[in-house]
Amino acid sequence: MIDHEYFYYIANWKMNKSYLEAWAWIREHKKRLSDLSRDYFAHIVICPSFVSLGRFVEELQDTSLSLGAQNCSDHPAGAYTSEVDARSLQEIGCNYCIIGHKERQLYYGETTESIARKLPLLLTNNITPIICIGEKKQLKSTAHIYLELEQQLAPLITVLTENTVIEQKKICLAYEPWWAVGSGDYPKPEVLQDILAWLSDYCMPLDPAYEIILLYGGSVTDIIAQKYDSLPFLNGYLIGSASLELQKFEKIISLRRTSNPRIL
Ligand code: PGA
Repeated sequence: MIDHEYFYYIANWKMNKSYLEAWAWIREHKKRLSDLSRDYFAHIVICPSFVSLGRFVEELQDTSLSLGAQNCSDHPAGAYTSEVDARSLQEIGCNYCIIGHKERQLYYGETTESIARKLPLLLTNNITPIICIGEKKQLKSTAHIYLELEQQLAPLITVLTENTVIEQKKICLAYEPWWAVGSGDYPKPEVLQDILAWLSDYCMPLDPAYEIILLYGGSVTDIIAQKYDSLPFLNGYLIGSASLELQKFEKIISLRRTSNPRIL
């Protein structure tokens, strides 16, 4: 596991902005976001809808912002109407891709198995996966949470362990409890701390070449981020609604203490 100087802010826009709205937003705010990323050692990844990706590649040129997709197919190619393959994402210039999001599982029937099939497709195409895991309901004890997370993680760890050839070894693992997504609710900092420590331990047997970036997602705002600010295993956030408005997004990013002498 690697000590990260950079903190990650992944903006999952879902289907909240149309093509034209997304384009206007990024044109207007990319300079400010790029400045924030430099000043706060922030790794900012914007995940707009599929149709916006090509446009965003052009807009994000000469910025320090990265581009992510919100999903990819679990097949490399073939007769799968409306699906988008990982190879095309790589060809268009996408560096990140979210997989296993709650909404994909809940509304579109994605399973742990299909998520595990996406993982090597992304890695072989040199795309950093942002894997979402999290318990579905609020559980009484962390022991129960670990059991549920273990079921989700086991097939992914098998994929990573079996892979000895793929060069791409950076993985974002986003702990996103379903009950916290879009609800305004969130885990207590001490509980999140235990879960992140557990996740870090769980990934320990992996080849040390893997760089596992632990994220939290679910109703992240500046107020919640303030509570999590000093959690040692936390490397960043996966942010939904608070990433849609610059002011809210900016507040979260500019919260972090930084070692950048320019803004001390
Ligand atoms: P939220 O969404 O921040 O609006 O809860 C997070 C996500 O769905 O990734």
